[in-house]
Amino acid sequence: MQKIAVVTGASSGIGAATARQLATVGFKVFLGARRLDRLESLAAEISGTAHPLDVTDPISVTTFVAQLPEQVHVLVNNAGGAFGLEPITELDEDHWLSMYQTNVLGLARVTKYLFPRLEASGNGHVVNIGSIAGLETYPGGAGYTAAKHAVRAVNDTMRLEWFGKPIRVTEIDPGLVETEFSLVRFDGDTEKAKKVYAGMQPLSAEDIADTVVWAVTRPAHVNIDQIVIKPLAQARATMVHRT
Ligand SMILES: NC(=O)c1ccc[n+]([C@@H]2O[C@H](COP(=O)([O-])OP(=O)(O)OC[C@H]3O[C@@H](n4cnc5c(N)ncnc54)[C@H](OP(=O)(O)O)[C@@H]3O)[C@@H](O)[C@H]2O)c1
Repeated sequence: MQKIAVVTGASSGIGAATARQLATVGFKVFLGARRLDRLESLAAEISGTAHPLDVTDPISVTTFVAQLPEQVHVLVNNAGGAFGLEPITELDEDHWLSMYQTNVLGLARVTKYLFPRLEASGNGHVVNIGSIAGLETYPGGAGYTAAKHAVRAVNDTMRLEWFGKPIRVTEIDPGLVETEFSLVRFDGDTEKAKKVYAGMQPLSAEDIADTVVWAVTRPAHVNIDQIVIKPLAQARATMVHRT
């Protein structure tokens, strides 16, 4: 039987690359995100299935999940991102709420509704895309780092609550990956976004997808708890070697 994978935030970056690589190793992939046009062209390319998904909206999540097969083997909770880089004294409440809604509540919400299908597979696996922002802090980053620290807490709690069940839980924490992440963070400002990766070689979305595929293709008794992956030129969130 072909194994089923679900990838949230599959319209761009890490999610799109992960969907492609999961299809390459034989998964039937169900793609979710808000930009359906992009999802549909990727789904056509990889013989997957695209459905609209806004992880911040409970009705969108339950509608999305209702269209999935009764058994799902892999859920990649990838939808997320950062909005803004303002210091706490200038915090933008909409930015903070959106980051929490997407990265934290969205991840937990999708998992909640998908859980029965993961359990029904007899060999489920949840991969949560965290960040080194869940392990460190940096000036201007409090809204995002707080959200990704929360992702770590949710991830670890899944591992505890499902102890004894055949469901694996993996957290993958990337450093700088060149995707649309910075464009979104800086509200479409391409110049600001480009500077984030200037004079250094960032990770690619494919590098992270490789890691996801490796984790989910280990034998069923092997749980990869956490992987931290950074470019060689990045030692800490804000310590980047640039030429
Ligand atoms: N790039 C990095 O440096 C980096 C580093 C560490 C961790 N991460 C994490 O990696 C994940 C993927 O980011 P990326 O770098 O690939 O950025 P990206 O290219 O901006 O992709 C983000 C994806 O999330 C989806 N998304 C955003 N809000 C959503 C919502 N409300 N409902 C459903 N989907 C939503 C977007 O799709 P739609 O807009 O079409 O909905 C898009 O497909 C995020 O969780 C991010 O925090 C990124």
